[in-house]
Amino acid sequence: MRIGMLTGGGDCPGLNAVIRAAVRKGILHHGDEFIGFMEGWRGVIENVTMPLTLETTSGILQKGGTILRSSRTNVKKVEGGFEKCLETIKKNNLDALIALGGDDTQSITLALGERGVKCVGVPKTIDNDLSGTDACFGFDTAVMIATEAVDRLHSTAEAHQRVMVVQLMGRHTGWIALESGLAGGADVILIPEIPYSIEAITEKLIERERTGRRFSIVVVAEGARPAGGEPSYIEGSHRYGGIAERIAHEIEERCGKETRTLVLGHIQRGGSPNPYDRNLALRFGAAAVRCVERGNYGSMVALQGKEIRAVPIGDAVQEVKRVQVNSELVNTARRLGISFGD
Ligand code: F6P
Repeated sequence: MRIGMLTGGGDCPGLNAVIRAAVRKGILHHGDEFIGFMEGWRGVIENVTMPLTLETTSGILQKGGTILRSSRTNVKKVEGGFEKCLETIKKNNLDALIALGGDDTQSITLALGERGVKCVGVPKTIDNDLSGTDACFGFDTAVMIATEAVDRLHSTAEAHQRVMVVQLMGRHTGWIALESGLAGGADVILIPEIPYSIEAITEKLIERERTGRRFSIVVVAEGARPAGGEPSYIEGSHRYGGIAERIAHEIEERCGKETRTLVLGHIQRGGSPNPYDRNLALRFGAAAVRCVERGNYGSMVALQGKEIRAVPIGDAVQEVKRVQVNSELVNTARRLGISFGD
């Protein structure tokens, strides 16, 4: 088989591990040939490729980013985009295409499948918000990095008796904020799924002060918003940003408490995947090739419980996987005294 691969959307640790596993399994066990498209769908539209061989994929397992580079090029927004993709796939004599990406990438994969391309999807999102799979590689590493940041903020917050507000990734969902806030012992966790009221946040901080705890840690997902209000955007753009500053300002005004902010940003996506994410990525890569060999097209590999399975791509892109407000995780956090600002 001749198989094409691409990585689309925001990068995340583990993409190279997927590429390596697919190429090794395909070449060593099935005699497949691989080509990689550069920079996501842009490489397919413009037919920009690199060979994926045992040599070119050697030594990449532990590396962050993606050797194929990535972009947010959306085929649907490019004039004649789908026709150009079909032409490239034909020119390269591809039997199948494996696309690594989140909901935007997978919705293109689905659309190409409907146009006759034999596609397999591999879920990728640091935000962990893709349906159909219990987890995506990269998320665990992001939670690890964010937890370390929350841990480290404790000592400086305590030394200065301040409130520290840390802003984490998560545009539509609060998975990173919830898991790292819980693991890091945050006092307040704000996520898009639970709109906050500034009164509830300050009530929690004042209560801590009253009971002798003179510092507090607030973890906030970038897409969090006040009840009845809008999320915060970077001025003049559609990118989320500014929520930590907004909350910090309100806390200082209402509690008279010195407050500082940290926006952790792309550190959460950078660098080497941890062992859990490497292994999940390797399993996804091998499973994607298994789908191709079995002719299981239009499917996306997924983690369900402890098993790697294939699910219809359509199921994965149907809706965002949100934190359930009554989930065991949220309820446990509440019982441990964490406020969600509601
Ligand atoms: O979707 C993943 C994500 O990391 C979001 O959490 C974040 O808001 C966004 O990508 C950042 O995207 P970019 O790197 O394109 O600015």
